[in-house]
Amino acid sequence: MTLIAPSILSADFGQLHNEISALEKAGADMIHIDVMDGHYVPNLTFGPAIVKHIRSYTSLPLDVHLMVTNPETVADWFIDAGADIVTIHTEACTHPDALLTHIHDRGCKAGVSLNPSTSENVLEYVLDKVDQILVMTVNPGFGGQTFISEQLKKISRIKSMIGNKDIKIEVDGGINPMTAAECVAAGADILVAGTSVFASKDYRKNIDALR
Ligand code: DX5
Ligand code: ZN
Repeated sequence: MTLIAPSILSADFGQLHNEISALEKAGADMIHIDVMDGHYVPNLTFGPAIVKHIRSYTSLPLDVHLMVTNPETVADWFIDAGADIVTIHTEACTHPDALLTHIHDRGCKAGVSLNPSTSENVLEYVLDKVDQILVMTVNPGFGGQTFISEQLKKISRIKSMIGNKDIKIEVDGGINPMTAAECVAAGADILVAGTSVFASKDYRKNIDALR
């Protein structure tokens, strides 16, 4: 079954608790939290204190997407705050193998993310260290961008690389009911969506439309 991970980047930040409760009631499978540092991407969002706060009122898995230049330093902050899955960008990390191992050693699931221009070949030697692979279908930094359809080929290639290993493929950026179907056909298991989930107040309808 396809899992839906609403991105709270598009939520009403003044109502975060209510927004997350509403997502829970609407059938979200996890909460996607976009951590941006103003360096790796030209936007600044959530720190570990917010994640700790969210952790205190939801039991949904917290899927933390680190778009930061120093994931080796900040990964622990978010694990301590209660993240269930920590995803790092391979492009931002000097020693991805070591960091993915460390995340696992801390009892957390580990993800690796690829920007649109990054080849899936970088995954070859870390496949035994990841629980999920996050294919960016926009350039990271902002919600509301247009889906880059060339990434569908990358999703299919990663699907073949994975074979029967227990690794999920997650897609992020420009996911709407139409692009969701294309991604799932190519092999995606988890759909991250901000704009299309928060497009109207009926979150259940929006989530069901993606699924
Ligand atoms: C972009 C973020 C996404 C973003 C997706 O850098 O990683 O998670 O929230 O937003 P939409 O669904 O609006 O493209
Ligand atoms: Zn994201």
